[in-house]
Amino acid sequence: MPQLKILKQPNPILRKKSKDLSHKEIISPELGKLILDMIKTMIKTDGVGLAAPQIGGNIRLVVINAKDGAFCLLNPKITKKSLLKELGQEGCLSIPGIFGQVKRHKKITVEYLDQNGKKIKLIAQGMMARVIQHELDHLEGVLFIDKATSVEKVKIGKE
Ligand code: NI
Repeated sequence: MPQLKILKQPNPILRKKSKDLSHKEIISPELGKLILDMIKTMIKTDGVGLAAPQIGGNIRLVVINAKDGAFCLLNPKITKKSLLKELGQEGCLSIPGIFGQVKRHKKITVEYLDQNGKKIKLIAQGMMARVIQHELDHLEGVLFIDKATSVEKVKIGKE
């Protein structure tokens, strides 16, 4: 199975706001295949998450690589967030070689639909809350470098 091509900054698709998926789209076999391909691509590239705009689709779909397995969030919305924020390091498959310190809510509640169109409410904290906030920003056309308080560049020279 070929790996999906990951768009790199400054591709304008990364800056567009993504559209909600309809129920018909959610239960379609095409979307099922796309989700599977995104999960495989995320795992192959060692990503902790991947959002649809990163592979060229401005739809509200993200996949996350959790300890107990990968899962997808369709039409996700953050419905609660802690007042408390914390700084942490982030990177992005669309911005290779750059890492930054980003302030994120420590704890969030996210509501989304699963692949069967079932409503799910997930309470996440720490690293998982950070990854979800990062991926959901992609659906708004926002990249972590927009929010980072400092960035580090890693340049690899020719051998
Ligand atoms: Ni990213």
